[in-house]
Amino acid sequence: MRTASRTDGRPWRVAAAPGGLPLIGHALQMGRRPLEFVASLPAHGDLVELKMGPKPAYLPCHPDLVQQVLVNARVYDTGGPVKEKARPILGNGLITSDWSDHRRQRRLVQPAFHTSRIATYATVMEEECAAEAQNWGAGKAIDVGNTMLALTARVTARALFSTDIATGAIAEIQRSLPVIVHGAYRRAIDPTGLFQKLPIEANRSFDRALTRLHRLIDRIVEDYRRTGGDKGDLLSALLSAEDPETGGKLGDQEIHDQVMTLLMAGIETTASALTWAWHLLGRNPRVEEKLHAEVDEVLGGRAPGYADIPKLDYTRRVFTETLRLYPPAWLYTRTTAEPTELAGRRLPTGSDILISPYVLHHNPELFPDPEEFDPDRWLPERSKDTARGHYMPFGGGSRKCIGDVFGMTESTLALAALASRWRLRPVPGRTVRPQAHMSLSAGPLPMVPRPR
Ligand code: HEM
Repeated sequence: MRTASRTDGRPWRVAAAPGGLPLIGHALQMGRRPLEFVASLPAHGDLVELKMGPKPAYLPCHPDLVQQVLVNARVYDTGGPVKEKARPILGNGLITSDWSDHRRQRRLVQPAFHTSRIATYATVMEEECAAEAQNWGAGKAIDVGNTMLALTARVTARALFSTDIATGAIAEIQRSLPVIVHGAYRRAIDPTGLFQKLPIEANRSFDRALTRLHRLIDRIVEDYRRTGGDKGDLLSALLSAEDPETGGKLGDQEIHDQVMTLLMAGIETTASALTWAWHLLGRNPRVEEKLHAEVDEVLGGRAPGYADIPKLDYTRRVFTETLRLYPPAWLYTRTTAEPTELAGRRLPTGSDILISPYVLHHNPELFPDPEEFDPDRWLPERSKDTARGHYMPFGGGSRKCIGDVFGMTESTLALAALASRWRLRPVPGRTVRPQAHMSLSAGPLPMVPRPR
């Protein structure tokens, strides 16, 4: 897979990002305008070196280099300071496990996301999206970010735990998760490791929220073990999973860690993307009109179901294009587990690599008019020349998002259910600034629902 030059025959361009300062490197640019900064890097090189402190990190800007990193999960392993800080929160689940254990874990968790099970989880999605569409009041502004977060929390919690337990669990997850996600981000960006030791209220509420969520998961796993049987939900699938190679099963702590991982990975990401979709629709009336025409034609006023998804082509294109413009997982890391070479640059063991779908998705050489919200760029005849590695909101290789179909199904149903009843109008005079934190969010986004 290692190539001495680009496929167009030109040598790889390796460069240092401009504007680095002694000691802090590029921390200011990354802190102040992270998206503009990373999107500017392809102009400098195919592989760009930047510093977030004294240690260099490498950001591959060329899609072939990104693929080299993602498909070679043994050499470019999970790890580094960010993952170390995530471990006390996520334990040792799919996101934090290193290469040697990840393959076993993935074999065990994959069946929970089999198409036949997604169809069952879709029933929960249908119900929750229809209930949400009933809830909105005409002319009363809602915070779209919070509303979408509450919706995806309910969907994920009920897909995980289908019993009565879900009712109490939903409230706890909605209460704890934002605190944990915010605290996890603060910890991830603090190079000193001192923030988490400060005796401040933010840290105390983080600890309390984490303890509550851990306890809740323990109680639920215990209850499921006692009652037994396949309840058709994600947790039942994890409990019954058997490794086809060894016959081994997941232990209680492993199940706990996978549940925590699914909650942390599946709720905020999908909510952020849905929020961006409403923002983009509110500013692009022609796209909104086409979406309305499709949902009216396919649904004729009824609530959407799983069987409608293949017919909701435009709705899916709207979400696909939203994920291109605002990929929730806009930046994540790998660390080299052995000495290697990327774009001709020798990388010692422990080198940090930054992967950014945002950089690829906003590169005009890969996507013409990259800032344009154009769902029809995903029409089969127009997208046939888009190489697979150019568009990667769900990552790639053996660590590709396990919830991609879950998230796409949930979002298509949510957009269709809500757009068939409502249009969301932006609040005049409000500027929306992307917040590039743990996920790429729109921040608070008030919009006004108007019945259609
Ligand atoms: C639009 C929604 C979503 C986006 C954009 C997204 C994005 C991603 C990306 C980019 C990765 C790869 C990270 C890496 O390589 O380090 C990932 C991994 C993962 N995602 Fe998602 N995700 C979404 C929804 C979901 C949902 C709904 C779930 C679960 C219900 C989920 C669970 C996971 C898990 C467990 C992993 C780790 C997989 C592994 O390492 O084997 N995600 N996601």
